[in-house]
Amino acid sequence: MDNDSSTRIVDGLLALIETAGPGARLPSTRVLVAEYGASPVTVQKALRTLATRGLIESRPGAGTFVRATRLARPVDYGWQTGALRTPPARVSAATSAMRDATNDRIALHAGYPTRELLPERLVRAALARASRSDAAFTRSPVAGLPELQAWFAAEVAASTPAGVTPPMPGDVTILPGTQSGLGSVFRALVGPGRPLLVESPTYWGAITAAAQAGVDVVPIPSGASGPDPDEVDRAFVETGARAMYVQPTFANPTGAQWSPQVAARMLEVAQRHSAFLIEDDWAHDFGIEADPAPLARLDTGGHVVYFRSLTKSVAPAIRVGAVIARGPARDRIRNDRAADAMYVSGVLQAAALDVVTHPGFQTHLRGLRQQLGARRDLLASSLRQHAPMAHIDGIPRGGLNLWIRLTDGVDVPRLVASCEADGLLIGAGHEWYPAEPEGPRIRLNYSGPNPGAFADGARILGSHLR
Ligand SMILES: Cc1ncc(COP(=O)(O)O)c(C=O)c1O
Repeated sequence: MDNDSSTRIVDGLLALIETAGPGARLPSTRVLVAEYGASPVTVQKALRTLATRGLIESRPGAGTFVRATRLARPVDYGWQTGALRTPPARVSAATSAMRDATNDRIALHAGYPTRELLPERLVRAALARASRSDAAFTRSPVAGLPELQAWFAAEVAASTPAGVTPPMPGDVTILPGTQSGLGSVFRALVGPGRPLLVESPTYWGAITAAAQAGVDVVPIPSGASGPDPDEVDRAFVETGARAMYVQPTFANPTGAQWSPQVAARMLEVAQRHSAFLIEDDWAHDFGIEADPAPLARLDTGGHVVYFRSLTKSVAPAIRVGAVIARGPARDRIRNDRAADAMYVSGVLQAAALDVVTHPGFQTHLRGLRQQLGARRDLLASSLRQHAPMAHIDGIPRGGLNLWIRLTDGVDVPRLVASCEADGLLIGAGHEWYPAEPEGPRIRLNYSGPNPGAFADGARILGSHLR
């Protein structure tokens, strides 16, 4: 009833505002109460609504007045066409994985674990401690806080076999997230117009970073056990490339993990071609049935440039990662970082270090393993039941995604749009390909909010595939 009268008053005043024009004084609250037979609270509510819309303003002691309206004139940006000219090669980070989702959506598209999968208590305490530390007021060294450099180096050293020299803390450069580091490495070690081998499919952000760096990507097919080292060998010869971007551990999007044999052969191929393997260990903390075994632990001659990210395992708001490289490559990458960002916020580094060195973090990771396993299995069984045409090539032993093959002829952009109209967000598979996809695919992430809705999501997908 109250709402009704408030709407009635708003409508009445809107008509008055239009006829009276800017600067006109509105009737007083007392007059409006009498005119509309409403309470003073209801009249005030209606006036607040109009004030929020920017239509009226109250001047203390003088009354309420119609505001001068600002006309929204169409702006001509035509001059920018001449200034900008042709856009640089395919640089577009607007992917289906980065869409924002409202709570009423079933979000299987995104890449970031939901809050209940994060070490929330540890993060809160770490941020509070970091805010009281010196790191909150000082500039961090370009390469990062020495203790955090040491932690990243020790992580690789922990799995380095006897006889291999592990990386030193000084080989670590801390990054404000590894995404910007990918660009640095492509610029520093490859360079514009030069070839970079990449697995296909591969992380869309690496494809974007390569395009931004002006690097020519050369796709190498990669399946459930990674790329064929012989094919990589041939591609190094044919293209003259001296670097390849790879994800040997729970690759995004396929979930593939390289076998020890593939890892050893790939290292051997890289050594023979005097080339770099740029290893992106983004899912190091997301093993389910398998543990990560980074290539970097086997690297003897500085062939592996190793990325490790904490964004998804600590908190998306504590965006900290690292790149480990040895020899002149390390210095080139560090120079690029210094030119690009100068240094990474010490508060975030201190908080990240606090979380990962807290004994509770290992407990959290053990729990996370269980939760990811349960979520992955729930999504897979929901798809089998409600969307049998969505074929899962292989259940990944870690990571956050199911990589789905669809029947030939499915129009993926249309499928994505029609699922979205029904409240389901999914990742369009072609965004993970540097060239043409070999068939229609989608990526479904099982680390988002509300796993209770996985079955509904599978039903929506199934209904659109039918
Ligand atoms: C494979 C892969 N590498 C790197 C990144 C970038 O992560 P960040 O910049 O947060 O470290 C992502 C993020 O989604 C990813 O999926």
